[in-house]
Amino acid sequence: MHIEVAQRLQHTEEYYFSKKLREIDEMNKRGAKVINLGIGSPDLPPHPDVIRVLTEEAGKDNTHGYQSYRGAPVLRDAMSEWYARYYAVAVNPQTEILPLIGSKEGIVHICMTYLQDGDEVLIPNPGYPAYSSAVRVSGATGISYELCAENNWYPDFAELEKRDLSKVKMMWINYPHMPTGTAATMALFEQIIAFGRKHNILIYHDNPYSFILNDKPLSILSIPGALEVAIELNSLSKSSNMAGWRIGMLVANESRINEILRFKSNMDSGMFLPMQLAAATALRLDSSWYTELNTVYTQRRAKVFKIMDLLQCDYDPEQVGLFVWAKIPDNYTDSYELCDKVLYEANVFITPGGIFGSGGNNYIRISLCAKEEVFDQAIARIKGI
Ligand SMILES: Cc1ncc(COP(=O)(O)O)c(C=O)c1O
Repeated sequence: MHIEVAQRLQHTEEYYFSKKLREIDEMNKRGAKVINLGIGSPDLPPHPDVIRVLTEEAGKDNTHGYQSYRGAPVLRDAMSEWYARYYAVAVNPQTEILPLIGSKEGIVHICMTYLQDGDEVLIPNPGYPAYSSAVRVSGATGISYELCAENNWYPDFAELEKRDLSKVKMMWINYPHMPTGTAATMALFEQIIAFGRKHNILIYHDNPYSFILNDKPLSILSIPGALEVAIELNSLSKSSNMAGWRIGMLVANESRINEILRFKSNMDSGMFLPMQLAAATALRLDSSWYTELNTVYTQRRAKVFKIMDLLQCDYDPEQVGLFVWAKIPDNYTDSYELCDKVLYEANVFITPGGIFGSGGNNYIRISLCAKEEVFDQAIARIKGI
C-alpha cells in the first residue's frame, strides 16, 4: 500500500547526516572503523552535580507527572539568572522565557506560529539546514541571503536594502555563526536590530554556540529595545554537554511567548521534572565550568588545524564555536569530492560545507567533539592518503 506524503514534505529530503551515517554504518560492518568528525554532539559528560540532581530527583515518588507547558519555575528562574549573569540581559522568568525540548524544536515552533503561504523568510547561506526545512514545512518561502568570507560572513545589508522586502516577515540569524565560526559583535547586532525595525521584519537569533571558544558570550537581546524586534533561541546542548537531553530555551517578549505557546502546548506536554531541575543546576554552575571546557576544546582545535593543514585547507585561526571551518584547495571540484576522498581513503568522516548551502561548497567543517587521541589517529590516517 502506498500513501503519499503530504505536500509540505515533498521537497523535504532526509537530513544529509541521517543518510551519511547509514553509509558509515555499512562501512563499519565491513570493518572500516570510521572516525566520525562530522557531528557537533559533545562527547564529554555534563557536570557531576547535574547528573546527581537528575538521579536523585528521578528516585523520588512525586517527580513523574505531567509538567507545566511553560516549564518549571526553578528552571525559568535559572535561565533568567544565566541571561543576567553572562549576557547582562534582564528577562522576566515568569513571562519572557520558554524552556524548549532543544532549540531545534524552537525553530519549528517559531515557523509554525508565524509563517504561512506567501510569507518570505531570509535565511543565511551557508547556514544551519533546519532553518530552511522548518520554513518550507510552514508553507512560507525561504530566501537566501549570502554570507561570504570577504564580508567576514556577515549579512551584506547594502545588498539586502536593494531587494523588495515587502513580503519578508522574518530573518534567521546565528552568531557565533555555524558553520563558519564567525563571532558576534555588538555593532553587528545593532545593525541587525535596526534592519529588522526599519523593515518590520522579525529577527530570530539562534545562539547555541556563544560559550564555546568565545571569551565574550553575547546576546542580541542586549541591544536596547531588541525584545520588540527579536526572539533568541539558546541551548544547553553544546555549552553544558547536554545535547541528548534536549534542553533549550526561547527568550521573547510576553505576547510572543504566549503566541508560540498556542502552537507548542498542542505539540508536547513539558519536560520531565528531574531533567528541568538538573538543567537549572547546569546553568547555575560556576563560570569555571566554561573555562575548563574551553581548555579542552582549545587543545583539540590545535589538532584540527593540523588536519586542515594536511588537507591544504585555509582557515581563520580566530574562529569560535564547536567546529573548524576551512576553505578547500582549488584542485577539488567541491567539498563533497574532498570529503568523500577522506571518507573512502582514510575512513574519516568530515562534513562538506555544501550541506549548509551553496555558499559552503568550497569549504569543509570538522567537529571538535572527539578525544585528542582520536584526532591523532585521524591525522595519522590522513597523512597516509
Ligand atoms: C546553529 C544551530 N542551531 C541549533 C542547533 C540545535 O541545537 P539543539 O540541540 O539545542 O536543538 C544546532 C545543532 O547542531 C546548531 O548547529
